[in-house]
Amino acid sequence: MKISIIGSGYVGLVSGACFADLGNDVICLDTDEKKIALLRGGGMPIYEPGLQQLVSHNVSAGRLRFTTDIEESVAHGAVQFIAVGTPSDQDGSADMRYVIAAARSIGRSMSEYRVVVNKSTVPVGTAERVRASIADELRTRGLELPFSVVSNPEFLKEGAAIDDFLRPDRIVIGASSDKARAIMAELYAPFMRPDRIVVGSSDERATQIMRQLYAPILRNHDRILVMDPRSAELTKYAANAMLATRISFMNELANLAEKLGANIESVRHGIGSDQRIGYDFLYAGVGYGGSCFPKDIQALQHTAGEYGMQLTIVDSVEKANRTQKQRILEKVRGRFGEQLDGRHFAVWGLSFKPNTDDMREAPSRVVINGLLARGASISAYDPVAMEEAKRVFAKEPDVRFATSTVGALDGADALIIVTEWKEFRSPDFEDMKKRLKSPVVFDGRNLYDPAMMREAGIEYFSMGRPQ
Ligand SMILES: NC(=O)c1ccc[n+]([C@@H]2O[C@H](COP(=O)([O-])OP(=O)(O)OC[C@H]3O[C@@H](n4cnc5c(N)ncnc54)[C@H](O)[C@@H]3O)[C@@H](O)[C@H]2O)c1
Repeated sequence: MKISIIGSGYVGLVSGACFADLGNDVICLDTDEKKIALLRGGGMPIYEPGLQQLVSHNVSAGRLRFTTDIEESVAHGAVQFIAVGTPSDQDGSADMRYVIAAARSIGRSMSEYRVVVNKSTVPVGTAERVRASIADELRTRGLELPFSVVSNPEFLKEGAAIDDFLRPDRIVIGASSDKARAIMAELYAPFMRPDRIVVGSSDERATQIMRQLYAPILRNHDRILVMDPRSAELTKYAANAMLATRISFMNELANLAEKLGANIESVRHGIGSDQRIGYDFLYAGVGYGGSCFPKDIQALQHTAGEYGMQLTIVDSVEKANRTQKQRILEKVRGRFGEQLDGRHFAVWGLSFKPNTDDMREAPSRVVINGLLARGASISAYDPVAMEEAKRVFAKEPDVRFATSTVGALDGADALIIVTEWKEFRSPDFEDMKKRLKSPVVFDGRNLYDPAMMREAGIEYFSMGRPQ
């Protein structure tokens, strides 16, 4: 199948490369000329495990190419994925300008039937806005061409994006006609666990194309959920809000556990073993960050506000997360005092989570800025986010960048661990003690055993565990 992907960021590039790998003929479009030039030259604008190889393999096979030419891209794909950014606007709502610009650009140059698929995370009602934008452009051109709009939110995780895309827990397809819904239900019933099917669709043609597109994945993973577009759009926000809720819930209980002398790790095992709860997303830490949870939570709050509603749980989740991002700073101040002039700290982990170089809303930014504001200086290290960090802290002379974990430690008053990269898990503690000015570690990710740290003679502060 011929596919065009509008927006070649984390989602667009991974989707494009994976669809190409399944044998489709894919064009990835972006308005960022530098990004496209880099990709054409064999470079990679983001760090994502396995992506470089997947892209170059499919480029060599002639199934994947890159362009800035919207006309070429619209002419190419029967399916046009929109995978552009939906950042937070000033009022917290999702900024829809890129999605609408993408939709309009399709309307401006399409000349035959197209399925337009929203893969970006978009507020409920966007499928209708996209439809209206395309129809408006066609009207301006004096044309009446058929097209379908489908909502197909993406659930991949940065750091494991390829695997998530190729082996998804589910594929949500939002489209809108009863007839096609019935056909889809019938079609997929033999393949799927009945409890996993929620079916609906817009029209037969779009359904057929989407079915064909996902067929290779479906064969292994029988997890396509078809529903109406509004439900599909809300599903994505609901998923992120639920995951964020688990994180904030555990962080709040971790703070309580500290007061009570309980150990949040034991509590996590105690509740995770309950099948109704499960273990995922129950780790206490420094608060969630990244390009999705913070902005999606805010967008959901904003949507509720537009309908005169307050989402009290979601509001609390967001508030708890903001507080949690300060938690490690509180511990540092508790140990070293309110003023940190002349203090120097090693910070390990800058990306918002391991296996990505993404620093959008990363807790490390809050931690480092908080330390700088009190007069401290920093030696920072991250296995892959160093280039991004240099860009983020370009105007901060007091943030220096080490070339190794141990290099960051030299002469620091303490080590602060913000992201749980694998290579931080088993350091040489004797060497660490020698390099640090004082043997103090603030661990925002509970990487080490407190008893072992005590034996090693390291003053150890972690999250939700007895000191
Ligand atoms: N990053 C994730 O882990 C993730 C996961 C699931 C869903 N999402 C959602 O997917 C969407 C994209 O996220 P991302 O992280 O890939 O964003 P990104 O910022 O990495 O990439 C977006 C790309 O779109 C390009 N772009 C903007 N307007 C364009 C236009 N009119 N035509 C062509 N290209 C255009 C930008 O130049 C950029 O390269 C967002 O809505 C996000 O919430 C992201």
